[in-house]
Amino acid sequence: MDTKILRGKEAIVKGAQLIKDGDVVVFPTETVYGLGANAFNEDAVKKIYEAKGRPSDNPLIVHVCDKEQIKSLVSQISDQAQKLIDAFMPGPITVIMPKAKNIPSIVTGGLDTVGIRMPVHEVAREFIKECGCPIAAPSANVSTHISPTNAEDVYEDMKGRIKLIIDGGSCSVGIESTIVDTTSNIPTILRPGGITSQMIASVLGCVQSFKGEVVVALAPGMKYRHYAPSSQMVISNENEIILQYEEALKNGLNPIVLAEDRVVEKLGKVAHISLGKSDDEIMQNIFASMRKADRVSNYIICQDFGDEGKRGSVMNRVRKAAGKNGKN
Ligand code: TXA
Ligand code: MG
Repeated sequence: MDTKILRGKEAIVKGAQLIKDGDVVVFPTETVYGLGANAFNEDAVKKIYEAKGRPSDNPLIVHVCDKEQIKSLVSQISDQAQKLIDAFMPGPITVIMPKAKNIPSIVTGGLDTVGIRMPVHEVAREFIKECGCPIAAPSANVSTHISPTNAEDVYEDMKGRIKLIIDGGSCSVGIESTIVDTTSNIPTILRPGGITSQMIASVLGCVQSFKGEVVVALAPGMKYRHYAPSSQMVISNENEIILQYEEALKNGLNPIVLAEDRVVEKLGKVAHISLGKSDDEIMQNIFASMRKADRVSNYIICQDFGDEGKRGSVMNRVRKAAGKNGKN
């Protein structure tokens, strides 16, 4: 299969036609690129799982272009869900609500709830509007790979597996949306992201933040290892990076450091990728940098960014990428 990368109006029109024909298309969002299909077309949604090589019990997020479209997808919008919609949509948030009957169960992995997201990325919203239907989409990586944040990284994973990638540039947020379950007694964050728990608490009063793997039954996706580079990856306190780097060299490895500018400046001559200065920059660059590091090195040492706010959201992804090799 020939995989095309297109931009602009032509890309949107061609992409929407493929969706209407029951096919899958990769499209950009502000978080990461998504691999979309018509959420009401069961056969089309099956193609998503085939292209990703992903087990089909993992629920998908349904993407909408406006708030009106949400009503056709859910059986109820609670006060809390409505508050989140008003405060953060369009934007990098997914709100879990009770699902409408007409959504095929393959979309929700058999759950009676559905995750709804309205991207703020102009190309995403124009594309969904042109399709004329809500779009079910996971991140556009092959299962267990890092989520792609630019068209080239999508191509690396999806070449030959799909017909079209709509190129909308680099994703401005850079990690996947914050997922909030509004169907539990206390709203619960199932996955941290660019909208932090503090931001959510300020709208809802309180929110339960997701810790460990307690919510496995609610979010089957959490069973699978995500965001994994093929190189070994470890997390290091900024003061121990140099030690770990030298140790790795001694062991015949080819290490590379991922760290923010302030830390990189202290390190001297080491192979590294700078993630930037601000929390937003670190979040925006983390996935593409992991992929770059994975291409040139077999041992990635990532700075521990701590647990506060957006840095905590970044660490959630870094820990998953480090898997059992992570110190935390
Ligand atoms: O930013 C994002 O959310 C990106 C872009 C493309 O929108 N999408 C994304 O999708 O990250 P995916 O499939 O890679 O991750 C979706 C996560 C999975 O961990 C899944 O378990 C969870 O959302 N999820 C989806 N529906 C759910 C539901 N009804 N209840 C609980 N968790 C759900
Ligand atoms: Mg994913």
